[in-house]
Amino acid sequence: MQATARANSNIAFIKYWGNRDETLRLPVNPSLSMNLDGVFTRTTVVWVAGLAADNLVLNGSPAGAEALQRVSAHLDVIRRRLSLTQFAQVTSTNNFPMGAGIASSASSFAALTVAAVRAAGHDLSERELSTLARLGSGSASRSVPAGFVEWHAADTHEGSYAESIAPADYWDLVDVIAIVSDAHKDVGSKAGHRTANSSDLQGARVAGAAERLRICRKAILNRDFAPFAAVVEHDSNLMHAVMMTSQPPLFYWRPATLTVMEQVRRWRAEGLRVCYTLDAGPNVHVLTLAADVDAAAERLRNIEGVIDVRIAAAGGGTIIES
Ligand code: PMV
Repeated sequence: MQATARANSNIAFIKYWGNRDETLRLPVNPSLSMNLDGVFTRTTVVWVAGLAADNLVLNGSPAGAEALQRVSAHLDVIRRRLSLTQFAQVTSTNNFPMGAGIASSASSFAALTVAAVRAAGHDLSERELSTLARLGSGSASRSVPAGFVEWHAADTHEGSYAESIAPADYWDLVDVIAIVSDAHKDVGSKAGHRTANSSDLQGARVAGAAERLRICRKAILNRDFAPFAAVVEHDSNLMHAVMMTSQPPLFYWRPATLTVMEQVRRWRAEGLRVCYTLDAGPNVHVLTLAADVDAAAERLRNIEGVIDVRIAAAGGGTIIES
């Protein structure tokens, strides 16, 4: 049996940084994100009788050992859940360049989970698919449901799932991504989650996360840009403060990153509805409303050090294509 699933990537407004249980990927705090329309991974899974091991073709080429190992470990989780014994042939493509400042693990593990379960002939609830995707990559749990998505922090595997708080067309928020570097990051999020607790600031960041999430959720539901912008920038700054004060420290910003952040704050003071958020990388996600996208994109393109700009509106959840 085979199935193909397509999952959008997502950008977090209230960030996930650090696990309370690393093996189960139970986060220390809840998070809130928006799926990115048209920024996706498409994955086909075929369970093949007689195959000696899992096989992975990534963006047209056989995957390296590290990627195969991570995918195979996730397929082990699904095999255990569904009592399967077969190995799988997995073919996966991203329609965006890896290392372009857009999280590929979120869309990859959401698509892999949904395709693998369907290919085995099972029909699990969205909630369970989200918990399973979480075991591959935390942020992948948020790419399963549609639109604006909240991921619950909990003490148990079953309790930590993501669900939609509003559909994609609820608010015309757009992510205008200013690419300032296309180099692959040195320290990925997996190692980063591990060092988060070594920062003196992590406790304070986590303590306020639920309240920031409440403010952010309310701003989204009221389609109210000003409080949204304030809490989103604050939450991103807090996460990067934790990163910079971890041991060893993680500095993801490049000089152009700071230039973009400064300009975004200035443009907002002048009346443009823009704010920024950054993941574990130097590229800046500039959030704006549909009416201000052209102005924001043009201004970003004129900043020295911005090598590309990509635009994504709010997107749907993971879908089965065939
Ligand atoms: O899902 P991971 O392990 O790639 O972690 C994602 C971490 C951030 O992108 C920095 C924040 C987030 O909530 O997406």
